[in-house]
Amino acid sequence: MLKGEIINGYVILQDFTTAGGGLSKWTFARKGEKEYFIKEFLSPKYPTETSPGSPKSKERKKQECEKFENHHKNLMKQINERCGVGGNLVVTLDFFRVGSTYYKVTEKIDVASLSPKEIYALPLPNKILILKTIAHSLNILHKAGIVHGDLKPENVLIKQTRLNYYTTKLIDFDNSYFSGNPPELSEEVVGDMVFYSPELARYIQGKENPEKLTTQSDIFALGLLYCIFLQGELPDFPKKYAYPCLAVNEGKELKLIDAKLPKKLKKMVNAMLAPSPTERPTAEEIFETLKNLDLKDDDELVKVPERKSFVETYWEEKEKKEAESKSSKLKMTFSKKKEKTTEETEASLELEMKKFEEAMKIIDEMTGVSESKLRGKGLKIGKK
Ligand SMILES: Nc1ncnc2c1ncn2[C@@H]1O[C@H](COP(=O)(O)OP(=O)(O)O)[C@@H](O)[C@H]1O
Ligand SMILES: [Mg+2]
Repeated sequence: MLKGEIINGYVILQDFTTAGGGLSKWTFARKGEKEYFIKEFLSPKYPTETSPGSPKSKERKKQECEKFENHHKNLMKQINERCGVGGNLVVTLDFFRVGSTYYKVTEKIDVASLSPKEIYALPLPNKILILKTIAHSLNILHKAGIVHGDLKPENVLIKQTRLNYYTTKLIDFDNSYFSGNPPELSEEVVGDMVFYSPELARYIQGKENPEKLTTQSDIFALGLLYCIFLQGELPDFPKKYAYPCLAVNEGKELKLIDAKLPKKLKKMVNAMLAPSPTERPTAEEIFETLKNLDLKDDDELVKVPERKSFVETYWEEKEKKEAESKSSKLKMTFSKKKEKTTEETEASLELEMKKFEEAMKIIDEMTGVSESKLRGKGLKIGKK
């Protein structure tokens, strides 16, 4: 699917890319006035009349596809019933199949290109705000009995707010499952092994019952994610283990060691990394602990300088490379086209701002974090 093509009413704005993952391709698309994120699944493929295979294998593939489709639609229904567009969970707006290929559509997020290292470098209150919004999103998901199943930095989009702080948007529920009901082992078990919980590792090894894979499996992954944001790296574990979960399953303890962090915060993160799911705090408890952290008076929530979004930078660089490789004649058409796009962008910018302000109101209400509320809690808002 290429730029300019239309798929189920969505006009594809750029060629699809596999950046970020590998099991899917993604790009942005426009339908009516709005722009969306659209993801193409590389598997499963629905067998069509012309696709190869015996009738029997095609029938098996069809059944696999129906299961995939039902699972996605069911998740979409459960999540959408609890969250609205513009909240911290990026919900699926559309899920469909064209020919043999499945697609998923969500709202488009203007992502700040902020690496985990850059998050680590932020002042503590800014980091806490990031941790808090993730816990909040996860709590909504967990209350619906859904395990995210693939928590890692790439699936937590960082967005700069109108007030110039960073907030998060949780994405990629494609490996999600209902608590106690993980995908069967015969199916492709995906996700990043670095963030596997000890019980997930045991399940893969055939040493754990599926019922033991609950929403608390996400909490272990979240604990690792918090370590990366708070101390700049994963907790230490002996090098002979390839992944943290394997070290834990051999009796090793994972710990956040940064001495400068508040005791209550360290205690909470260490409990999130406990070997037993029931010893770990729930997403709700984590959110409450973070909300009530007693930060020192000199810990200011600092406004961050404006920065270009990941989306802007990514496509700008791509377009620059394309333009460089074309003839000067082509370059002329390219720059004309770009002028037009800039005008269009400016016209839609106002609309975007309105939408964003609405969304910010919702985020503030949801997370209990607004400028006035922070002041009320004795936190100072740093000057820009
Ligand atoms: N709603 C969105 N708006 C902007 N960018 C997004 C959005 N959703 C995902 N992305 C970008 O696309 C990448 C891949 O999306 P994701 O749903 O995580 O697919 P994958 O299955 O390939 O991991 C993400 O890491 C992120 O950089
Ligand atoms: Mg992903």
